[in-house]
Amino acid sequence: MAAACLLARKIPQSCLLQLPRSAFSWGPGPSTCRAARDCWRTIHAGLGGTCWRAGWRGASVRRFASQTKVARQRKIMGVWLLGCCGMVAGAVLIGGVTRLTESGLSMTDWHLIKGMKPPRSQEEWEEEFAKYQQYPEYQYVHRDLTLEEFKRIFFMEYLHRMWGRLIGVAFFVPAGVFAVKGWITPGLRSRVVFLGGLLMFQGLLGWYMVKSGLEDKPQSMDIPRVSPYRLAAHLGTALLFHSAMFYTALGLCQTPKQQGKTLKLLRVKGLAHGMTALVFFTALSGAFVAGLDAGLVYNSFPKFADRWVPDDMWAMSPKWKNLFENPTAVQFNHRVLGMCTGTFILGTWALARGAGLAGRSRFLMNGLAAMSVLQATLGVCTLLYFVPTPLAASHQSGSLVLLTLALWLMHELKAVR
Ligand code: HEM
Repeated sequence: MAAACLLARKIPQSCLLQLPRSAFSWGPGPSTCRAARDCWRTIHAGLGGTCWRAGWRGASVRRFASQTKVARQRKIMGVWLLGCCGMVAGAVLIGGVTRLTESGLSMTDWHLIKGMKPPRSQEEWEEEFAKYQQYPEYQYVHRDLTLEEFKRIFFMEYLHRMWGRLIGVAFFVPAGVFAVKGWITPGLRSRVVFLGGLLMFQGLLGWYMVKSGLEDKPQSMDIPRVSPYRLAAHLGTALLFHSAMFYTALGLCQTPKQQGKTLKLLRVKGLAHGMTALVFFTALSGAFVAGLDAGLVYNSFPKFADRWVPDDMWAMSPKWKNLFENPTAVQFNHRVLGMCTGTFILGTWALARGAGLAGRSRFLMNGLAAMSVLQATLGVCTLLYFVPTPLAASHQSGSLVLLTLALWLMHELKAVR
């Protein structure tokens, strides 16, 4: 059949599917096939004229040519957004290492342009170090820090901020070019504007978070650290930005494979939404663990010392404060959420095994199950080994991988309806 012939020649399926049935000549045999190939050449030569031999109408050929062009443009924009997603994953990793190496408060001011120039001469370094010495982190935690050590933590924070700026360039410059070229449709425009807004908000939030760690709180007995609420907001926005961008990219450059419509498949589809939401909220609760250094209390598993429920869970008043500010309760909640999320994913995987998932979605479901086991194992090891940087950073990045797989599966299962 001509249609089969065209498919074999790798014409984007999304374009073929949109063509009216009348555009094809539905006859068997090699002659129709050859005619279809000629027709394909006509389209690619940009002639867009008649192609009667294959049974195409002139208007259909022109429409098909323009649909192929649009499909190419969508693919290019999809790859652009996927590239930005990769950069966001890099920023999450660098941000995690910056926090874990206690480097995040080494730059004490923020300028979009001026902040790009690091100190170069000995004099400039000493000036920057003197500024840092006025802030609580130096005075209470890093009192014996040398200039060489300061340069190291400064570099970490500098890298994180410059990486953020690079994401800005990688997002906004192509967005502008695509807008000028007229590639961004009205539907896509609102998403790109939303993503751009989120990116700018994330930059401001980063500075708002750092500021909370620079304030002197003479009454506080705690070590100087950024507000856990702001840290959670910063990580949460990064995850939201990544998720929205990844889902948009998939919509632009990947057509979900057709699947049957059975009750089991519909159930797995519904559960895929649940998995994504659970992974997101578990990651957010992890940010509170990180923000309060709650990974350093109760370094035993599965019990909390010799108890299943620690007795200082509700030590703070009012009670709700414990959920966000009491390290014991915050760790307890994250552990329980993490284990529930893992169990939920493995349960969905078991159900999906008998549901007959098609190719890519089966692969994603298996990957998600394996990753959930790895993520929980990384979490437990991070706890048992008193939060070493490589384990904690891998655990943090693992949450992004898990979220990405869950979103991808969700997108793939859109075809079940
Ligand atoms: C689906 C499961 C899980 C997800 C998605 C997840 C995600 C996260 C995230 C995003 C963080 C914040 C990291 C940061 O900002 O640096 C975190 C921290 C942490 N998580 Fe999990 N987690 C999961 C399960 C677990 C489990 C089961 C445990 C242990 C029983 C655990 C222990 C920890 C610890 C100790 C930290 C603090 C590490 C630090 O201070 O950097 N997690 N988690």
